Formats: sequence, structure tokens, C-alpha cells
Amino acid sequence: MSAVETTFYRPPGVVDRLTSASTWETGARHWPSGEQQTLTCCRVVNETHDVKTFEFRTEDGLPVRFEPGQFMTLSANVHGQSVERCYTISSPPTRPYLVSITVKRVPRGVMSNWLHENMKSGNQLRAYGPSGAFTSTASAAPKSLYLSAGSGVTPLMSMTRASIDLGLDRDIAFVHSARTPADIIFRQELERMATLAPRLKVFFVCEATGDKTDWVGATGRLSLPLLSEWLPDYVDREVFTCGPAGYMSAVRDLLREGGHDPARYHQESFDISTGVVPEPTPPADGAVQDTVTVKLSKSSKTFTMSASETVLSAARKAGVVIPSSCSQGVCGTCKTKILDGTVDMKHNGGIRDREVQKGFRLLCCSRPTSDLVLEL
Ligand SMILES: Cc1cc2nc3c(=O)[nH]c(=O)nc-3n(C[C@H](O)[C@H](O)[C@H](O)COP(=O)(O)OP(=O)(O)OC[C@H]3O[C@@H](n4cnc5c(N)ncnc54)[C@H](O)[C@@H]3O)c2cc1C
Ligand code: FES
Repeated sequence: MSAVETTFYRPPGVVDRLTSASTWETGARHWPSGEQQTLTCCRVVNETHDVKTFEFRTEDGLPVRFEPGQFMTLSANVHGQSVERCYTISSPPTRPYLVSITVKRVPRGVMSNWLHENMKSGNQLRAYGPSGAFTSTASAAPKSLYLSAGSGVTPLMSMTRASIDLGLDRDIAFVHSARTPADIIFRQELERMATLAPRLKVFFVCEATGDKTDWVGATGRLSLPLLSEWLPDYVDREVFTCGPAGYMSAVRDLLREGGHDPARYHQESFDISTGVVPEPTPPADGAVQDTVTVKLSKSSKTFTMSASETVLSAARKAGVVIPSSCSQGVCGTCKTKILDGTVDMKHNGGIRDREVQKGFRLLCCSRPTSDLVLEL
């Protein structure tokens, strides 16, 4: 029996609507989505030996409106260079005045190490967003399965925290994979939330026990027999997955093998190293120029590039700095208006249709099909 006994009133039909940030007030004014903000660090929490949570407030104290699972793009000056990276908001939208990100140190990684070493209470950085479509609020599924590994826990944590803050007794099974018990991020909080919400079930699986010889939980990798033992009804659940690319591909295979409907599977990748910008569509008439000229309207710079390259990568080679982060059409950081010319863009959800209609494109996943003039 759980330590705290709770009875929930669940108004029929309003559960998923209630978790959507867009449906409840966070004050008349808020940080408008898509605009830049200066964030001030208020607190740093050590989560594990290589993971820290950084809590921020906006410069003028405005609440931040977002959907649980969305991310911000942070921009910092690291050793004299402007560096942008995406970080999921790990706090829930129900606590809009203090947004947190939870960052795992990546060996030799520029931004994660800079944040761990430099971001302290009172320090500031620029952020834009929030953006991203990986959120459970769009789904009205009665039962969910959250599968995460490593720092991939962050979007699912925001979703779970929101559900708990709103007093919603949603049927959520949260299965987190870690290298060792010492690497489990948010372990105590997840266990505490599971005692508060009778229908939240939390499971951990560790690849190895590490120094914790008293670990009595599951060891090894997540497998179909383990999942079926914990959750015999997993095929009935809407699945949300986040973690390293290898983990997500293993999870997808495992679920497919177990008969889970791929249409009810949602995932977010943090892994930019394995991210692939799809190849361009071959032109029907073979009429595309091999080399094109790109003009920048504001700086009056001009460079030439091969039509087989992305505009972002060619701009970098030409010494033109364009803000970017994921390089795979996810984060929206490289969004730029095309004033003249055409490109073939293959994005992964980082731009909205209405922005495309207004002439914006993501330069990291756009290859030119004519000479271009960019609003830069
Ligand atoms: C939508 C989204 C949400 C995200 N949310 C989170 C989150 O909540 N928490 C989190 O921790 N991360 C998150 N990430 C990942 C994050 O954006 C960064 O990618 C991560 O922190 C690594 O950035 P970095 O600057 O430290 O590493 P980078 O400097 O970008 O390096 C990444 C990797 O490349 C290697 N590398 C870099 N340069 C070289 C080189 N010259 N030669 C060989 N190898 C090299 C590094 O060793 C490292 O392994 C998210 C990513 C996305 C796209
Ligand atoms: S850099 Fe992320 S969408 Fe282009």
C-alpha cells in the first residue's frame, strides 16, 4: 500500500485538456513563444555525478508558457564563440515562473561542460523557444507508457510532474533505463510521485549495479519479457520515448516485435551525432544548377555553394555565422526567411506550416534549387 492514500476526482473528458499549457492561465503576460529572452539562473541542483538541474527565471519575471515535453534553445558565449543547444524544460508548465533544464555532461561536449562549470546563481544566458511537438497533451490516450534512458528522462518528467501538480490520477507507466543505480536521474522524486498517484507506476532497469551492491531492482537492458512482466497491457498504451539513438531504435524494434501499433509510438531524439538530414528529392527534369549563389540581404555578403549541400553547412564554410543547434530540422534555431529563390527542405518538425507560408525555411535541412537571397 502506498504511504499516502489519495482519492482523485477525475472529471470525465477533461483530463488531457487540463494538462495543456494553452488551456490555463499563467498570468495575462507571458514569454511569447518564439521570442528571445534573457534567463537568470536562480538555483543549481546536483542530480547525479554528471547531471545538474539549472533553474531560471525570465528577466522581467514573466511566466513561461509551454507544453510539457517542449524544449528551449539556449545561447551562450563559450570561449568567445556563440554556441546554441536545445534543452528540454524538465519542470512542468504548472510552475511557470521558474523553468528548469537538466543537463548531462557529454565528454568533450562544449555546452554541457560549460553549463556545469559556469552556470551559477545570478548568471544569465539567452534563450529562445519554447518549441517542439513531443508532448503528451495532443494525445487523449487513457493509458501511457513513458520510456526513457539517461537524460531522455527530462520531457517525460515534465509531463509526469504536470499531471501530479494538477491532481490528475492518469494511468502512466514510467520505465527508466540507466547505466547504474547511481545514474538514475530523479529517482527519489519519481518514487515519491508514485506514492502520491495510485495509477502512476515507476520502474527502473540498470545495465549494471556499479557501486550499489544493495540494488535489488532489474539489471540488464529493457527487454520484451521484462516489459510484459511489469506491464502485461503495454500494447494498449500510447508510448512516448526519449533517449540515445541506440536505445530508441532498440525500443522501437522491441515494441514492434511485441505487436505494439507504431501509430501509437512517439519519440524525441537528443542525439545530434547520429541525426540525418534526409537527402534531397531528385529533380524531375534534372534542371537544378550544380552551383548556386547565396546573397545575404542585411550584411551584403555573398557566397557560392554546391546545390548538394545544406545552406547552413555551406554558410559555415564561407565564414557566415548562422545560429544553429540540432542540425537536423528539429529545433528551429536556424529558421531564416528566404527573400528570393527556392530550396528543397526536409525537416523533422522544427518549423510550422504557417512559417513556411511566410517564406521561412530551416537552413540546416534545406538544399538550394536556385540562387538565393536570405534575410540575414
Ligand atoms: C530537442 C532536444 C532536446 C534536448 N534536451 C536535452 C536535455 O534535456 N538534457 C540534456 O542533457 N541534453 C539535451 N539535449 C542534447 C543537447 O542539446 C546537447 O546536444 C548536449 O548537451 C551536448 O552538447 P555539447 O555542446 O555539450 O556537446 P557537443 O560539443 O555538441 O558535442 C557532442 C558530441 O560530439 C563530440 N564532438 C564534438 N566535437 C567533436 C570533434 N571535433 N571531433 C569528434 N567528436 C566531437 C563530443 O565529444 C560529444 O560526444 C537535447 C537535444 C535536442 C535536439
Ligand atoms: S539547427 Fe535545429 S532546426 Fe536547424
